[in-house]
Amino acid sequence: MGVLLISKLLQLISFIGVILLAMVAASAAQAKPGCDNSCGGVEIPYPFGLREGCYLDKMFNISCDEDDAIIGVNVRVTNISIEAHEMHVMALEARDCYNESGSIEFNNSTRFRAGKFTISTTKNQFTVLGCDTTGIIRWKKNEKIYSTGCRSRCNDLSTAVNGSCSGVGCCNVEFPDGLGNYNVSVSSFKNHTNVWNFNPCSYAFIVEKGKFNFSTDYLQKREQERRPMVLDWAIGSETCEEARSKPDFACHEADQKSKCYDPETRSGYQCKCKPGYQGNPYLRDGCQGAGVSFICMLVFTSWMYFVYKKRKIMKLREKFFQQNGGLILEQRLGKQEGSTETLKIFTVEQLQKATKNYDESRIIGRGGFGTVYKGFLPDNKIVAIKKSKIEDENQIEQFINEVVVLSQINHRHIVKLLGCCLETQVPLLVYEFVPNGTLFKHIHQESNASTFPWETRLRIAAETAEALWYLHSAASIPIIHRDVKSTNILLDDDFNAKVSDFGTSRLVPRDQTQLATVVQGTLGYLDPEYLQTNQLTEKSDVYSFGVVLVELLTGKEALSFARTEEQRSLAMYFISSMKEERLFEILENHIVAEGNKEQIQQFVELARSCLAVKGEERPTMKEVAMEVEGIRKMQKHPWVNLEANSEEVEHLLGETCRAYPPPLENSSTITIGYHHSMNDHATYPLGDGR
Ligand SMILES: *[C@@H]1O[C@H](CO)[C@@H](O)[C@H](O)[C@H]1NC(C)=O
Ligand SMILES: *[C@@H]1O[C@H](CO)[C@@H](O)[C@H](O)[C@H]1NC(C)=O
Ligand SMILES: *[C@@H]1O[C@H](CO)[C@@H](O)[C@H](O)[C@H]1NC(C)=O
Ligand SMILES: *[C@@H]1O[C@H](CO)[C@@H](O)[C@H](O)[C@H]1NC(C)=O
Ligand SMILES: *[C@@H]1O[C@H](CO)[C@@H](O)[C@H](O)[C@H]1NC(C)=O
Ligand SMILES: *[C@@H]1O[C@H](CO)[C@@H](O)[C@H](O)[C@H]1NC(C)=O
Ligand SMILES: *[C@@H]1O[C@H](CO)[C@@H](O)[C@H](O)[C@H]1NC(C)=O
Ligand SMILES: *[C@@H]1O[C@H](CO)[C@@H](O)[C@H](O)[C@H]1NC(C)=O
Ligand SMILES: *[C@@H]1O[C@H](CO)[C@@H](O)[C@H](O)[C@H]1NC(C)=O
Repeated sequence: MGVLLISKLLQLISFIGVILLAMVAASAAQAKPGCDNSCGGVEIPYPFGLREGCYLDKMFNISCDEDDAIIGVNVRVTNISIEAHEMHVMALEARDCYNESGSIEFNNSTRFRAGKFTISTTKNQFTVLGCDTTGIIRWKKNEKIYSTGCRSRCNDLSTAVNGSCSGVGCCNVEFPDGLGNYNVSVSSFKNHTNVWNFNPCSYAFIVEKGKFNFSTDYLQKREQERRPMVLDWAIGSETCEEARSKPDFACHEADQKSKCYDPETRSGYQCKCKPGYQGNPYLRDGCQGAGVSFICMLVFTSWMYFVYKKRKIMKLREKFFQQNGGLILEQRLGKQEGSTETLKIFTVEQLQKATKNYDESRIIGRGGFGTVYKGFLPDNKIVAIKKSKIEDENQIEQFINEVVVLSQINHRHIVKLLGCCLETQVPLLVYEFVPNGTLFKHIHQESNASTFPWETRLRIAAETAEALWYLHSAASIPIIHRDVKSTNILLDDDFNAKVSDFGTSRLVPRDQTQLATVVQGTLGYLDPEYLQTNQLTEKSDVYSFGVVLVELLTGKEALSFARTEEQRSLAMYFISSMKEERLFEILENHIVAEGNKEQIQQFVELARSCLAVKGEERPTMKEVAMEVEGIRKMQKHPWVNLEANSEEVEHLLGETCRAYPPPLENSSTITIGYHHSMNDHATYPLGDGR
């Protein structure tokens, strides 16, 4: 079946190719650039033209009159050949008609005026029709008038023979070469009085040989008709030799691509493309040689290639679709028909349209994971389209699992996966669009990042923790995000957190708590234990989240080469600052000013526990989420009240920091200056207070 189809297709391709070739070859004889190249279906190649500037000289002036190409006086052109230097025309026949009593009805002689064209003697003949008829053709040559003609007679219709022009009802005669303008006239001896019954008119005309077949019907007709004839043409009246040196010599690239000829039967010269070349020698670059066939072949082959490629693309898409698990996905999605919102499978074209063909201007994110584009769906819905980096083929089924699981996740703090496209090598994922950018942007890049409110930071931490807890436990199969970081926490218009980018996420089967994987993640957030053992657990996310907590606290980036080597990693910097009781150095000033001391203290402690080197010492995401929620609910104690219940505070802070060596300085109280409001000044005893 398939083979048959392909051979049919190839046949079609070659057939179209041949037509294409013929078309290209034919179009070689064109008009001058910028000129109309046809009139009423008749092609008008240069040196002919329809208006001044388009023809070589007046001789080639063709007027387009009601879709008739007219040359000279009322001569209708039907075909022009550049190669044969011929022009096919239709010219009126001469007519001479009488009424019953022998009075003349019509007397139309014809004066053929077609400039310097000559009538091909080998391709035409002079023909006379009638039973009482003499036809005469008269022409002028070298100021002398020449004439020739023939006489046709018959007594009744039956004596005339169809197809025979031997003098009975029809006669014809050759005429000499070089005939140009001429007059044709017809006359009769007895005014058709003896034959009027079956032959009221006489006719005479020049006609292309083979194009007129005498029939007795012609003897009975009264209408004047046009007859086809062939004219020869040449340029000017000079020989090649004479014309060659003139500036208006019409042959382009003479002797290289074209050649000049002196016609045998007339004056003037003719240009022809040299053997191996084809086209119109009267046009600049008109003669094209092997080049033409080459271009034809090029056009043809590239077209073939295009067809082939298109087929291949279609096949490839199908392959990718299957490879990417499109069928599994379709099955899986089919199974969950009951659910209200299912994953949509987009086509390549839909996503191309949505992203203006992946226009630079639509890029909203770029990184190790791939590129994210902003896209507009036909229903005006704004989406984020992620073009992932190439996936490991073996993990396709797993990928599909994730897509399916993610499509089922409907959590307000997790970016919703709307659909995907599997027809490309790399699956494209379509997510809901989160308008306000990343948390990273808001706490590190914005001009007012340092004053990003503590309340909001706390809420974002709570929401993110909730989302991760959900992923770890609430979803049908536990999911380890694997790349928790501030750039993967998106914020909507109300600064609600939405965890995104599950490109590297892994599903953990229920009975497994660890998963051996190639280490993936982002430097600065990577769980050191995972880095060492390659054992991925949920606690890896907890560590990364701990780094985010520190980012929220300090407003410092997780990894910065602007910092000294010991401080390069924020997690290390944070831990060492705590040990050295110099935490005040890195906390965001306004947080210290704005936040409740206990809240901050607990937050610091939570972050520290999340950053424990050993995974098992870290809290679970559930514990983290509940802790953050707890911190949020804590009563707000303004700093000014600190002094009042300093005992309690000292106790709290002391407990937290007791495990760490005492500060190098002797002082047990560290003063933090801050600029929250004009005169505020708070004492924040970070030492153990003893
Ligand atoms: C070209 O031919 C048309 C019609 O035959 C005529 O009206 C026109 O004047 C001619 N132009 C020139 C420049 O001879
Ligand atoms: C015009 O003439 C050329 C050569 O005489 C011939 O090949 C071509 O088929 C003709 N075209 C038409 C439309 O008669
Ligand atoms: C023939 O034409 C002449 C002149 O027009 C007219 O006088 C005569 O009546 C016509 N004869 C017939 C039979 O129509
Ligand atoms: C032929 O001649 C008759 C009168 O002699 C005239 O009325 C008619 O218009 C002419 N036909 C043409 C095509 O010139
Ligand atoms: C017809 O006209 C031609 C030329 O115009 C003339 O020579 C001839 O005598 C005329 N014939 C008649 C019968 O009038
Ligand atoms: C053709 O006829 C016209 C007038 O009808 C005349 O002026 C011209 O000289 C004639 N040409 C020839 C070659 O007889
Ligand atoms: C001309 O017509 C006759 C009879 O109608 C026919 O036998 C002959 O083949 C025709 N010739 C051409 C060239 O058409
Ligand atoms: C033929 O017709 C012409 C003009 O109509 C006339 O002068 C002549 O006498 C007629 N000849 C005959 C034989 O009828
Ligand atoms: C000649 O051919 C025509 C049709 O073209 C026909 O009507 C007529 O009868 C034929 N005449 C003879 C003598 O065969």
